[in-house]
Amino acid sequence: MLIHLLFLTSLIAAAHSHSHNATKQPLNLKPMSSSFNPKIPPRGISASKRFEGSSNLVNLRYHMGPVLSSPIKLYLIWYGRWPPSHRLLIKDFLLSISHPSSPSPSVSQWWRTLSLYSDQTAANISSRLLISGEFSDHRYSHGKSLTRLSIQSVIAAAATTAAVDHRSGAFLVLTASDVAMQDFCRAVCGFHYFTFPSEVGYTLPYAWVGNSGAQCPEVCAYPFAVPGYMAGGGPGALRPPNGDPGLDGMISVIAHELAELASNPLVNAWYAGEDPTAPTEIGDLCEGLYGSGGGGGYMGEVMRDSGGRTFNLNGRNGRKFLVQWVWSPVLKACVGPNAVN
Ligand SMILES: *[C@@H]1O[C@H](CO)[C@@H](O)[C@H](O)[C@H]1NC(C)=O
Ligand SMILES: *[C@@H]1O[C@H](CO)[C@@H](O)[C@H](O)[C@H]1NC(C)=O
Repeated sequence: MLIHLLFLTSLIAAAHSHSHNATKQPLNLKPMSSSFNPKIPPRGISASKRFEGSSNLVNLRYHMGPVLSSPIKLYLIWYGRWPPSHRLLIKDFLLSISHPSSPSPSVSQWWRTLSLYSDQTAANISSRLLISGEFSDHRYSHGKSLTRLSIQSVIAAAATTAAVDHRSGAFLVLTASDVAMQDFCRAVCGFHYFTFPSEVGYTLPYAWVGNSGAQCPEVCAYPFAVPGYMAGGGPGALRPPNGDPGLDGMISVIAHELAELASNPLVNAWYAGEDPTAPTEIGDLCEGLYGSGGGGGYMGEVMRDSGGRTFNLNGRNGRKFLVQWVWSPVLKACVGPNAVN
């Protein structure tokens, strides 16, 4: 449902095998990159006891609702001041999902795990994600402090300015670093839900993710920033793949929320736990896990480029990203294309 501030200290064991050849390729495809498995400090807010490292305890179930099976038409809402270079970076990540020619391990290979989820009509999550519209709310139409409900007003205002596909559309609201959001930093770094006909005129899934760079990077741009109390103590922060903890952290949260939006768009499809108001979804199950050998405070084997920047996926335009793994309904484990045997 949301990115919890909880850090899973005992993560589910990584999947070691995967049927695609791509997962078996050596990681060091680029001569100047090296792989490593950093130990990362716990976030310190509180540690989840839910999974305790055993996939037997994970009871991910299907609850009869739809998944996003048509090509996903994403409408981006840039709320606040967004420099063009920042937009391009985030759009490169989103467009990498349907860009199979990026070098392995790639963002589109990462999304292949999503395509394994289907609904009761036997429709799988689409491998195609398009940016079908963009709205700029650079005047902060609803102020610099938003709530879960006012996000729907932001969407409603944006959606009236262009045609939105009511069948296969989804909104992604991205707030600039000077926008406060209810529970941001304290309880969530991003969330997804669906619009209400009374607010927006129809029901479509949406996700919100904020830039935490100025407000709480040690919480929401983790692991690119670490809590202040760790300074001088525990392991240092990792260098972000695109040099911007706020944005790179945001991309990691966007990946998490999109995976959950696609598999549980109306909050009645794929989740674990008994409580539909606090579902544990496919991103939550793998939070903090980015490669093989992760868990117990280790993030798993990831790569480092010649500049010391950490990444685990390649995208379009030569971009690199660090994105958590997601739960596979087939392997019943967290998986990603940078898995090593
Ligand atoms: C995997 O690689 C082997 C050897 O290169 C090749 O023969 C086989 O067809 C590949 N399988 C797939 C599924 O790509
Ligand atoms: C669709 O989902 C089913 C059920 O998980 C899976 O067996 C199948 O491989 C998926 N199809 C694709 C194209 O991924």
